[in-house]
Amino acid sequence: MKPSITVEKTKSAKTIPAAKDFGFGRFFSDHMALADFSKSDATETARSWNSARIVPYGPIPLDPGAAVLHYGQELFEGLKAYRGDDGKVRLFRPEMNWKRMRNGAERLCMIAPELDLFLEMLTAFCKTESRWIPKEPGCAFYLRPTLIGTEPFLGVRPSNDFLFYVIGSPVGSYYGEGADTVKIKVETEFVRAAPGGIGAAKTGGNYAASLKAALEAKSEGYAQVLWLDATHRRYIEEVGTMNVFFKMNGKIITPPLDGTILPGVTRDSILQILDSENLTAEQRPISLDEIQDAAKKGTLEEVFGTGTAASISPVDSLGIKGEKIVVGNGRVGPVSAKLLKRLTDIQYGRAEDPWGWTLPIET
Ligand code: COI
Repeated sequence: MKPSITVEKTKSAKTIPAAKDFGFGRFFSDHMALADFSKSDATETARSWNSARIVPYGPIPLDPGAAVLHYGQELFEGLKAYRGDDGKVRLFRPEMNWKRMRNGAERLCMIAPELDLFLEMLTAFCKTESRWIPKEPGCAFYLRPTLIGTEPFLGVRPSNDFLFYVIGSPVGSYYGEGADTVKIKVETEFVRAAPGGIGAAKTGGNYAASLKAALEAKSEGYAQVLWLDATHRRYIEEVGTMNVFFKMNGKIITPPLDGTILPGVTRDSILQILDSENLTAEQRPISLDEIQDAAKKGTLEEVFGTGTAASISPVDSLGIKGEKIVVGNGRVGPVSAKLLKRLTDIQYGRAEDPWGWTLPIET
């Protein structure tokens, strides 16, 4: 059955800021989409997702005892609605975000909405917020689907009640205008995730664990940190908000999805694009020694991060315990440039979409 979503329009529409002021996630649109799930409710109909609705953006009532506030039962997603030169709006691989939320929900003992509700809420929300989907180059409407445990209960066990909601924000570049490349600090003290933990889930706790290291790195002039594995502190995991790729010794390599890193939608897309260009990437453990050796030999050609928020972010240098490693010639490399163009051409509808990744939305 197709979910039906009620829409209550705001009576006080906001002024949309100028695109040059967007930054990342600073402004929220006029509405939000919500749906509830209750396992503890006695009736069969209530034991499914209910009351899907779009309402004016604002605070959500939450019991102070809610599971999310005490035991961190939370998952979020990030995807963008792109307005192409043809005026059409497209979502990029939203079913991949759903899949990651569903897998995260399984790990965190939560209940995720079904795919049709997830997609229906995203598309209805984009329709309602159409005027917020920017047409300026490089800008997009960032969607943040979020799932939280809402049951008020202090014993440590999974929540029976959940709220799923979607908010949206018009965004420009994640790192600010003019940031073509970023400097990354190899984090040798703190770790993000350990084997058997929740590193593969897009849950707030992983980001809370990253803040101290990120803050220190920022104060030292870096954009983000590069995480090493928790066991050996030797193998590359991911960069703050991105997966990471290396081009060294003539090969493109990225760490495998082994449960401690986030299965990025952009990572997956880049792997498929590379395949199609006969540049197939190796997915295997990469040690810090290997990178340092390649840098010494002059064969560390490119490093780039991939993520929804940051798209493809070329890295110009890595800092390891105060030592600086320059990547390539310190400028945007040809592979990063080519991938950025190929990916964004598909996202903005400028090029053919051979994989059927985009979901056009009538707005
Ligand atoms: C994204 O790329 O969508 C992310 O989730 C990064 C975000 C935490 C800013």
